[in-house]
Amino acid sequence: MSAALDTGSAGPLLEVEHLTMRFGGLVAIDNVSFDAADREITAIIGPNGAGKTTVFNCLTGFYKPTEGRLALDRGGRPYLLERMEGHDIAHHAGVARTFQNVRLFGNMSVLENLLVAQHNTLMRASGYSVLGLFGVPSYRKAEREAIDLARFWLDRVNLTARADEPASSLPYGDQRRLEIARSMCTRPCLMCLDEPAAGLNPRESADLNRLITDIRDEHGIGILLIEHDMSVVMQISDHIIVLDYGRKISDGTPEQVRNDPAVIRAYLGEEEDEELPPEVAADVAADAAKSGPAGGEGA
Ligand SMILES: Nc1ncnc2c1ncn2[C@@H]1O[C@H](COP(=O)(O)OP(=O)(O)OP(=O)(O)O)[C@@H](O)[C@H]1O
Ligand SMILES: [Mg+2]
Repeated sequence: MSAALDTGSAGPLLEVEHLTMRFGGLVAIDNVSFDAADREITAIIGPNGAGKTTVFNCLTGFYKPTEGRLALDRGGRPYLLERMEGHDIAHHAGVARTFQNVRLFGNMSVLENLLVAQHNTLMRASGYSVLGLFGVPSYRKAEREAIDLARFWLDRVNLTARADEPASSLPYGDQRRLEIARSMCTRPCLMCLDEPAAGLNPRESADLNRLITDIRDEHGIGILLIEHDMSVVMQISDHIIVLDYGRKISDGTPEQVRNDPAVIRAYLGEEEDEELPPEVAADVAADAAKSGPAGGEGA
């Protein structure tokens, strides 16, 4: 079951090599390769149906890839995710995710949602038996640590005051942040966020961006981010992968990707220029005016 190998190396956190996922005749991902680094936000962008969520589903064991190698290096311990079951990927390799549509335990309290996320750690401490019920010291210690971690993340996402309320009673934006807190309670080395800002208002979205960049900076983990809002992507990503019809069409810094004609074509289509929203049209015009191999400024 454990796909941990024995060679330590200083490569990227995640190496995706020649990933292909077919559903019958449909090729949802077609020979995609990319790296994602520790302490970086790697955005995966692309039009609807491009295969973004499918990449996450392969990385987290929801789907077994048709082909490809998904190598994760957790602090010098390599894992081959394509050979592992989903629960081992979460608990041993340390890959956490959130979903395109919020998935919380709605009837449980906010705090309980964060404790359930640590179920595996607690089970281990209980010796996988009822010993935990009898207050074995190691279990009590693990339980205290689980509560401390949950409280830390509750505070971090400003939900301490609502700890005892059912998760389903939270406003949508709070549920989104609770999901992130829940995945952080599993102490991941790689967190996969599938459109975390979907449905948020601009202010909630700005708060969320700060939370995501703080997690990268303070907790030193790698973040894979699927996001449709280009202003967010360009602002907070360190590295961007662009998919279109299951293929990788661009890979680079925000600056490189923004100026890549293949990306502009995929997003805008070749004959639809007159229908561009004004701010996008202005960007395209500015990019075309530069038309050098590399642009010069940030943000
Ligand atoms: N379980 C499945 N069975 C069959 N087809 C699937 C399955 N999962 C995904 N697909 C197909 O794979 C393609 C990629 O889907 P995916 O959900 O990865 O796209 P996406 O880039 O996340 O799109 P969106 O931006 O709309 O969320 C789509 O054509 C989708 O219909
Ligand atoms: Mg998706």
